[in-house]
Amino acid sequence: MSRYILPVSVFGTVAGCAVLIKNHVTGGRCPSKATIKGKTVVITGANTGIGKETARELATRGGRIIMGCRDMEKCETAAKEIRGTTLNPHVYACHLDLASMKSIREFAERINQEEKRVDVLINNAGVMRCPGWKTEDGFDMQFGVNHLGHFLLTNLLLEKLKESAPSRVINLASLAHIVGKIDFEDLNWERKKFDTKQAYCQSKLANVLFTRELARRLKGTGVTVNAVHPGVVATELGRHTGLHQSQFSSSVLSPFFSMLVKSPKLGAQPSVFLAVAEEMDGVTGRYYDVMTEKEPAPQALDDEAARQLWEVSSRLVGLEEGGQPSLAKPSADTESKAGLTDPAQTLGPNPEHSIRTVGA
Ligand SMILES: NC(=O)c1ccc[n+]([C@@H]2O[C@H](COP(=O)([O-])OP(=O)(O)OC[C@H]3O[C@@H](n4cnc5c(N)ncnc54)[C@H](OP(=O)(O)O)[C@@H]3O)[C@@H](O)[C@H]2O)c1
Repeated sequence: MSRYILPVSVFGTVAGCAVLIKNHVTGGRCPSKATIKGKTVVITGANTGIGKETARELATRGGRIIMGCRDMEKCETAAKEIRGTTLNPHVYACHLDLASMKSIREFAERINQEEKRVDVLINNAGVMRCPGWKTEDGFDMQFGVNHLGHFLLTNLLLEKLKESAPSRVINLASLAHIVGKIDFEDLNWERKKFDTKQAYCQSKLANVLFTRELARRLKGTGVTVNAVHPGVVATELGRHTGLHQSQFSSSVLSPFFSMLVKSPKLGAQPSVFLAVAEEMDGVTGRYYDVMTEKEPAPQALDDEAARQLWEVSSRLVGLEEGGQPSLAKPSADTESKAGLTDPAQTLGPNPEHSIRTVGA
């Protein structure tokens, strides 16, 4: 028995120290106390995890928050909870499925028609290491949602962002981009054997390359764009990984893992920092590791790859050169999916202007 005492106590001490110091080593809170009353923030995938806590903190700071989520029940529950805890009534749930180009176009059209301004767009939603699923349009799910969906959404909101300048776009990337490779011959895993880890890494590298090329194209417009790795955060992102797939790992390993990594509240701080910090005024085209600017991996600094990715992505999502959308007419089905189910939680009323609510 005594031979176990030393390893067990060393393990206990290491785990205890890790828990105690994790908040400090993982970046802490956003140092800026800036408030954002009068500003509108659009945030994708905001019903849980980092997105939900980012929405909560930006609501606390007085913003008008539009949460774009694919599951309206979860979205409305989260929006209601945030309105309750922040006492900010201007938190709205809105349907957005990034795995559907039609849904993205519907969402963007509504924002463009109903919102006077968009000051901050946070491309937060993400899917990690899912099976080889395809989006509604036949793209690899991770490339389609994490990159192409946000690529299209951002382009469709660009005029509004420019009208609202100075405005900011924030792309949730990941440290995983460092092992990513963009396979221009087979972006959607149609020819080679599907590798879910590589598919995630490719999509996150695409987020950083997109940030670089968008910043280049937006020079002089007053719209800035930066990419961020939020740190390792205890969220639902690992839902498709082994950690959640057996009774032992979900009941024993997963809670232990959660103790050692950041809470979603802390994981939201880098996005909040990029969205509000005064020192981020005019900063564009950069990559942040939590709240510190870092050089991304060499393949994320490749301007030619960034340009090529932009061109291929434009073609795949149906944008013409110059960023103009070649819009397909939305189907009745998409229109009904895009509708808000509770008129009390529609995108309005904005005190500054009257908003036409969808379905009204
Ligand atoms: N957690 C980390 O350690 C970590 C590390 C590096 C980077 N990141 C990045 O941080 C971002 C946020 O991740 P998270 O950790 O907060 O993960 P999460 O808890 O799994 O949240 C992801 C969000 O994205 C939404 N989403 C997924 N597919 C969507 C779709 N087709 N359309 C619209 N929304 C969709 C999810 O909605 P549902 O709930 O309906 O599925 C959910 O709201 C991701 O981009 C991720 O890559 C996270």
